[in-house]
Amino acid sequence: MTTRRKKIYEGKAKILYEGPEPGTLIQYFKDDATAFNAQKKAILEGKGVINNRISEYIMTRLNSIGVQNHFIRRLNLREQLIKEVEIVPLEVVVRNIAAGSIATRLGLTEGQPLPRSIIEFYYKDDKLGDPMVSEEHITAFNWAATQEIDDMMATALRVNDYLSGLFSAVGITLVDFKIEFGRIYEGDFSRIILADEISPDSCRLWDTVTNEKLDKDRFRRDLGNVIESYTEVARRLGIMKEMPTVIQGGVH
Ligand code: TMP
Repeated sequence: MTTRRKKIYEGKAKILYEGPEPGTLIQYFKDDATAFNAQKKAILEGKGVINNRISEYIMTRLNSIGVQNHFIRRLNLREQLIKEVEIVPLEVVVRNIAAGSIATRLGLTEGQPLPRSIIEFYYKDDKLGDPMVSEEHITAFNWAATQEIDDMMATALRVNDYLSGLFSAVGITLVDFKIEFGRIYEGDFSRIILADEISPDSCRLWDTVTNEKLDKDRFRRDLGNVIESYTEVARRLGIMKEMPTVIQGGVH
């Protein structure tokens, strides 16, 4: 980094810097990968560059169908300009097919279609390992209001429908994904918009024909070819046609 911007927050995969004008931030995508609440760590060279592009693409498409989100524009290989929001301390997970923690928790077979799309909430707290919570916990502890929960659920289902179609068109099954939301204040009112990122770090994406995993489970489960798979997702979406040269562009 050659710039001297004020760091606002550093997470496991991203850093937020002060933006060029009030109400904006710069979101920087790192190459760091973590799993199992950061017990497993690695640097995956080029991951930040790919996720910046994939998230840009998805957020832009979502914006075009009226799903408001924090993305303003991509600045360079690793950074995007975003709207500053007050993050709701919840991870909202939507599942279409049993995999990961729901398979373990409920004794389901991975790959089994769920009777309908299921939304789950997790309280964002690394010390606690992001425990699953219900609407009762969310309203009782004031993490979000009832109306906000309704808005997040409605948006989560729209995102699920839209992304399921988008990925299906390129031979990828959207098994599940995690999104986050933030509040924007306008005078006395606040509104909830989509925030964070949507990338192979935060989705389960399976090749529709072979069921091959094209997402972060390749890292979690030591399946190898993590970057190759993320690149394949980008390639199928029609972005990053020149991947190898882009990955080598280490400068942000
Ligand atoms: P899970 O099956 O481990 O609960 O994960 C559900 C989805 O949420 C999956 O697409 C991966 C994503 N996810 C994150 O983005 N961050 C996390 O910390 C976890 C646990 C899951």
